[in-house]
Amino acid sequence: MRILSIETSCDETAVAVVEAKNKAMPCFNVLANIVSSQTRDHSRFGGVVPNLAASIHLENINICFEKALKRSKSSLSDIDLIAVTRGPGLIPALLVGVNFAKTLSYARNIPLIGVNHIEGHIYMNFIKNSRVFPITGGRQVRGGFSVIILTVSGGHTMLVLMKNHLDYKIIGQTLDDAAGEAFDKAARLLGLGYPGGPAISVYAKRSRKKITPPIELPRPMIDRNSFNFSFSGLKTALLYKLRKDRNWKKKIPEYAAEFQQAAIDVLVKKTVKAAETYKAKYVFLTGGVAANKELREQLKQKIEKELSINFSVPDLEYCGDNAVMIAVAGYYRYLNGELSDWRTLKADANIGI
Ligand code: KG4
Ligand code: ZN
Repeated sequence: MRILSIETSCDETAVAVVEAKNKAMPCFNVLANIVSSQTRDHSRFGGVVPNLAASIHLENINICFEKALKRSKSSLSDIDLIAVTRGPGLIPALLVGVNFAKTLSYARNIPLIGVNHIEGHIYMNFIKNSRVFPITGGRQVRGGFSVIILTVSGGHTMLVLMKNHLDYKIIGQTLDDAAGEAFDKAARLLGLGYPGGPAISVYAKRSRKKITPPIELPRPMIDRNSFNFSFSGLKTALLYKLRKDRNWKKKIPEYAAEFQQAAIDVLVKKTVKAAETYKAKYVFLTGGVAANKELREQLKQKIEKELSINFSVPDLEYCGDNAVMIAVAGYYRYLNGELSDWRTLKADANIGI
């Protein structure tokens, strides 16, 4: 079946066309993946402005939609299912995509499915691994597996246990800032602009190995007997260090490297502990922060080499927000017998998984 998918939860207008095959062992062929990023429009405000995001989505969505159809050599009559992000995210931004999808569904009588954005990030890893996690039992999706997922973005940070398709147990989450949000705030303190994650990682690479005195930041909650995270203290610790250091502008790479490593240490340690505690056979990393090369490499090293279990992370182009992930998660929901009604589908800023 051919899926048209739409994602407008934050500052990317994304439309994809994905061919999904095989109900027991889904496989996906990405025919078009259009992502129009608004980061430049928001950078001068130091973060995403919800109403500005919505008005740019409104300008762009039609263009992205037409590009996606053209690139995939599809017309609307080829589309069997429309999948759209319904939340969590910024309400004004979500409304653009949801309304666009509802209108298409009504006008062309195409089945519609509302998709959870976080589930989309999580399911990006199932694209590569669908053979390992087949679906059995017809409409009732069953598998029986044990996967730990670290999902980290600008809006959320969670450790999730999956024992079955579409079945999530949140075993830990941030008590304050999301990991990506912390990177963004730290970058702002260091004068590196928005979005902060990519900027911090670029500067961190230029860091000198040793400087005196060394820059040391805390690893919040690293030894706590819980899978929850806290990143706002890390950002505040950076702020106090910068205030005390008259020469901080000469050490931006070193501050960036220490901040990045502090966040990675906490993320890696808790993920490893979760994998051990729940006897996971797989660990998935996903979300915008999964684009961080150091995090990808350090987590992979620990999981594969030290625990000898399987590790998966999406290709770089699929870590940040995109609509392919919405098509993939939407297909699994559809296989589970779920559909939305264009009359009643709502956008929801705060839905959990
Ligand atoms: O998933 P995503 O594209 O949007 C949300 O759902 O929030 O994630 C965006 C977040 C931003 O906070 C951005 O700074 C962070 O992902 N990010 C990174 C990197 N690339 C993007 N954080 C750390 N290192 C990176 N290389
Ligand atoms: Zn996201």
